[in-house]
Amino acid sequence: MKEMKKGLEGVVALDTKISYIDGIQGILKYRGINIEDLADLSYDAVSYLLITGKMPDEAELSEYSRMLVANRGINGKLIEVLKHFEFGVEALDGLRTAISCTAHFDEENNQHTPEANKNKAIKLVAEFPTIVAALHRASYGDEPIKPMDNLSHGANFLYMLSGKIPTDLEAEAMEKDLILSAEHELNPSTFSLRIASSTLSDMYSAVICGLCTLKGPLHGGARKGVMDMLDEIGSIENARDYALGKLERKEKIMGFGHRVYKTLDPRARIYKDVARRLAEENGDTSWFDMAEELEHILYHEFVEIKGKPIYPNVDFYSAVVYKYLDIPAELATSIFAMGRVSGWIAHCMEQYSDNRVIRPRAHTV
Ligand code: SDX
Repeated sequence: MKEMKKGLEGVVALDTKISYIDGIQGILKYRGINIEDLADLSYDAVSYLLITGKMPDEAELSEYSRMLVANRGINGKLIEVLKHFEFGVEALDGLRTAISCTAHFDEENNQHTPEANKNKAIKLVAEFPTIVAALHRASYGDEPIKPMDNLSHGANFLYMLSGKIPTDLEAEAMEKDLILSAEHELNPSTFSLRIASSTLSDMYSAVICGLCTLKGPLHGGARKGVMDMLDEIGSIENARDYALGKLERKEKIMGFGHRVYKTLDPRARIYKDVARRLAEENGDTSWFDMAEELEHILYHEFVEIKGKPIYPNVDFYSAVVYKYLDIPAELATSIFAMGRVSGWIAHCMEQYSDNRVIRPRAHTV
């Protein structure tokens, strides 16, 4: 047996056509296209590319968007279930339960035909934002807001959350967030989904495996951690003492570091630009200024202490974007999942298409 690698660090577990990461150069591609060239498209176009492997032409995109809009509504019985969630249910736990309910209401749930999986894919991509918004509103005793047909995927989510039509920049920021969160090779949640898919479990169950894994604070839960951290720091003047205190106590600082990237996460660069533009539109740049100060402090502290810098990851400036979009911190991981679900579906289908049960060995000590 091969030697054990803790955390499977550096281990290549499978081949994929879905994405490519170069952690040294800071490159991320979805289906061979650089993330920088995808970030200005619509989430509909990028989720279509991830799931089908092909960039849609105008007619294909129009039909796909029509199907997504037609499936944005959620089952009335599910809304009744959401209303029973006591105040304070952790948003991601509620989403996990809601997706389980959605599976029960889908008669194709345990059908494995390509057509059934295509239908489930459309429902999952379309319904996630509606469920996240309805669950959040229900947990505060508010009625859900019906989706609007003429808003983009991201803009419709912001509308269903607050009842307000977002500005063009807010809508652009939400689309970019969903695109940048959509896919990232064999990250922990995607790998757990591939394992479930390799046993030929159904797509809903595989997505729920992804959700449960994404919740962890060292993975998708970090975005909420960054939002809470920014609140805790409070002002740019406190940033240095906060950072040095965490390092002295050997505590991890949320939103920094990455298992694969040893340079700046290319997504962080795009998020930072969006956060700066939102801050300027908002007029109060304090969240952005505090985040940028923290980035500079940690860069130089790590060079000092470890001889090499630490960089922000996908969860750092995305948290600043959420601050300016007035998104509550408890929704951060659920919104990450709203973007990631199209990458998860792509990996589930890829596993089904060329399957071998994923079953590594353990070294008994
Ligand atoms: C995501 O894999 C993906 O692709 C995930 C993701 C995706 O798109 O799916 O990119 C999304 O999960 C991003 C990561 C979000 N998590 C966080 O922001 C939590 C904080 N980050 C750390 O927990 C950490 O950086 C990890 C988990 C992200 C990566 O951990 P590694 O590769 O196991 O690195 P490590 O813990 O071995 O750290 C190496 C050194 C250690 O110091 P020494 O023990 O060598 O002295 O760097 C230090 C760590 O203490 N370090 C940090 C740190 N990250 C690493 N110190 C303080 N704060 C940090 N954030």
